[in-house]
Amino acid sequence: MTTEKARKHVFIRTYGCQMNVYDSDRMADVLRPLGYALAPTPEQADLVVLNTCHIREHASEKIYSELGRLRDAKDERRAEGRDLTIAVAGCVAQAEGGEIMKRQPAVDIVVGPQAYHRLPQLLAEVERKTAIVKAGKRVPGAGVLDTEFPAESKFDHMPSPQGIRAGSAFLSIQEGCDKFCTFCVVPYTRGAEYSRPAASVLAEARQLVAAGAIEITLLGQNVNAYHGEAADGSTWSLARLIREIAEIDGLARLRYMTSHPRDMDDELIAAHGSVPSLMPYLHLPVQSGSDRILAAMNRGHGRDLFLGLVDRLRTARPDLALSSDFIVGFPGESDADFDDTMRLIEQVGFAGAYSFRYSRRPGTPGSAMEGQVPENVKVARLTALQALLGRTAHTFNVSKAGTTVPVLFYENGRKPGQIIGKTPWLQSVYALGSPRLIGRIVETRLLEGYANSLSGEIVLQHEVAA
Ligand code: SAH
Ligand code: SF4
Ligand code: F3S
Repeated sequence: MTTEKARKHVFIRTYGCQMNVYDSDRMADVLRPLGYALAPTPEQADLVVLNTCHIREHASEKIYSELGRLRDAKDERRAEGRDLTIAVAGCVAQAEGGEIMKRQPAVDIVVGPQAYHRLPQLLAEVERKTAIVKAGKRVPGAGVLDTEFPAESKFDHMPSPQGIRAGSAFLSIQEGCDKFCTFCVVPYTRGAEYSRPAASVLAEARQLVAAGAIEITLLGQNVNAYHGEAADGSTWSLARLIREIAEIDGLARLRYMTSHPRDMDDELIAAHGSVPSLMPYLHLPVQSGSDRILAAMNRGHGRDLFLGLVDRLRTARPDLALSSDFIVGFPGESDADFDDTMRLIEQVGFAGAYSFRYSRRPGTPGSAMEGQVPENVKVARLTALQALLGRTAHTFNVSKAGTTVPVLFYENGRKPGQIIGKTPWLQSVYALGSPRLIGRIVETRLLEGYANSLSGEIVLQHEVAA
């Protein structure tokens, strides 16, 4: 029995944001007691899970082509008398569940982001249906679908996390979103905003540190909207939670993402100045530098609020590095609006950023707005914006060259003897060093700054405290 159980393998492919990375680890946790070990490739797996992203059109189209390849693999297996179970999870599953089954009947399971803890039941259901089919009988509907938003929290059903990679772990504390930006699918795919109770977050943080994590990144679609219920009945803000987690012995680095400018309160800004393990890096998406476009996007703030926040954050923590998200070509965006975005980028001097062409998502208000911007204009604007962001990031990296900083190494580089790590400002550093240093924080002298990374030289071969 045990040996048979241990022979099963699952391959999980993760698309999209860090929430999905976290969820993939939790799915692996849920499947482990059923005897599933992780397979390094889909070819070696009995069960393939695609944990999908629906944020842009391009992201969901990729899923359908991957599903086509998996269907072919499944057909080949069946010809050999074996099988392949195909599951679609994540945000495409939530948004297009029924449609996926229709478009690709080879899919066995569609499971939304709020229903992972029910994977064992869903797999049992697939097995039951397969047995009926094998017996030569028909079953109504080939696959099984679970895209409910259960009233109970999936977090209460999750086994303990095992997702620590090279000393670093994600911890999901908040999910969903009530902000309804007019371009975005997240409020529809992840549902209403929800904060995990503070005690359960603290317990998981302690568990992670006990299991070897020295860096924790707190995750949420709007992580700074966190308002978790505490044991004494009070409500903890993100700042309060950060202060408590920072007390855990052995935790050297604390980060959080993704934040919304509207929820950046005084207490959280102050924490950047007073909590030493809170790293001097903040991802704060602004999307546009134009007041008109920010209003059309329903972001709930203007350019000045964002620039004011940047000032206050830098007063609290002068070396704070900022990154952001930008969308170009939102409906109605004129050359002047785009210029406002370019000027905001120059003014702030971002250390990095993600930038995208606006993508019309069915069901969002933006997709029905007038003044859709032609693709060629979006492409030209994105090129100009990325060139500018490349320059500000390069300037930031160059500014750190010559300093000696603690670097958390996390993997081997491509060149022999090379390892890659992160500075406190989340810059990538390449240095020659022993793989033994992976998962450790090591004093490193930064040599030269490039567009996306720095070269470095390890100065201390033994671990430092933070
Ligand atoms: N909660 C975060 C962002 C979540 S989505 C926030 O409020 O900022 C991640 C990023 O994807 C967004 O910041 C945005 O830049 C981009 N994005 C979301 N929907 C998009 C769309 N329809 N077209 C292009 N980019 C989009
Ligand atoms: Fe999407 Fe806006 Fe919510 Fe961010 S705040 S997840 S962009 S709706
Ligand atoms: Fe994508 Fe869903 Fe994350 S749409 S960005 S995977 S919340």
